[in-house]
Amino acid sequence: MAQKKQVILGIESSCDETACALVNEKGDVLSSVVWSQYDEHRRFGGVVPEIAARAHLEKCDILIRECLDKASLDFKDLSAVSVAAGPGLIGGVLVGVMTAKAIAFAHNLPFIAVNHLEGHALVARLSNPVKFPYLLLLTSGGHCQILEVMGVGRYKKLGATIDDSAGEAFDKVAKMLDIGYPGGPNLEKRAKLGNPKAFSLPIPMKGRAGCDFSFSGLKTAVRFQIEKMGKLTDKQKNDMCASFQTAVVAQMQDRLEHALKVFKKDFPNAKDLVVGGGVAANGAVREMLEKVAVKHQMIFSAPPMKYCTDNGVMIAWAGLERLRLGLTDSLDFKARPRWPLEELDSKK
Ligand code: KG4
Ligand code: ZN
Repeated sequence: MAQKKQVILGIESSCDETACALVNEKGDVLSSVVWSQYDEHRRFGGVVPEIAARAHLEKCDILIRECLDKASLDFKDLSAVSVAAGPGLIGGVLVGVMTAKAIAFAHNLPFIAVNHLEGHALVARLSNPVKFPYLLLLTSGGHCQILEVMGVGRYKKLGATIDDSAGEAFDKVAKMLDIGYPGGPNLEKRAKLGNPKAFSLPIPMKGRAGCDFSFSGLKTAVRFQIEKMGKLTDKQKNDMCASFQTAVVAQMQDRLEHALKVFKKDFPNAKDLVVGGGVAANGAVREMLEKVAVKHQMIFSAPPMKYCTDNGVMIAWAGLERLRLGLTDSLDFKARPRWPLEELDSKK
């Protein structure tokens, strides 16, 4: 008897993107919609949690309907519902979780509470033959970590930022330079036009033992330079973007070299180096990772650009990976504003 086709709905609402997607059992993306709340937050220069939560509430069910319509499917065709149940801004997370629970309850479907970071961590496997264990650079607006990924739900953190995340640093520097919101992509565009050697900026943590990151000193150094110069010309802004991005990438490379030593010792036969999270959309970061992989005879894999920043596909995919292992959750699951990856520990 032919097996019934599986279709999983993924819902994401943990920060400033309301997103959902439908993915089938083979990992085909049947539909995906992302609604970014840029206009809501632009005048504040950053995400306002209360505004984000209300915007998610307004959009969530509309986007789910849009997603189903695009795939010519209905709720009856779903086999499971997965949702980013944390970590994140709790108001938004609750909107997604309550919506997912309501759908699961009403249609008698398995419910899967996905850790948002696990979404970023696993989504490269959707389109690349990445095998466990792999070394992961997870770099987003909220996090910057290097992890050994041993399996679904099985993570060991080798290092993390001791202050800001890389994405936060990109966004804050973009704000200081007044180059528009969202910061990261705008800063990258300008960096391409600038001279990376124009400003001498520090590379925090470079040469230090371990795999931790730090970006706040770099950010402060940029601020001092800007204050010293007064009003910056367009060219100076581009040069600052290029110099800043180069310093970020240099730090990441240094930290990865340390992490690779540990990883190779722990898993001598493992071959995969993977990136995930919003900052993984950055071309200079990807280029550096490609070079590091070649140097260490590893294979570098990244998700397609559109699945680096927050999206529903990564939540549906992580949900599918969990569903395959029978890792579903009860409707009592409580949304978690804080939820480190190491606490998942599925033992599978
Ligand atoms: O993963 P994500 O969408 O949200 C979190 O989970 O935090 O990451 C958003 C972050 C923002 O800080 C944004 O500026 C950054 O990713 N980002 C980039 C680029 N695209 C997005 N940073 C640098 N270069 C980019 N091209
Ligand atoms: Zn994210």
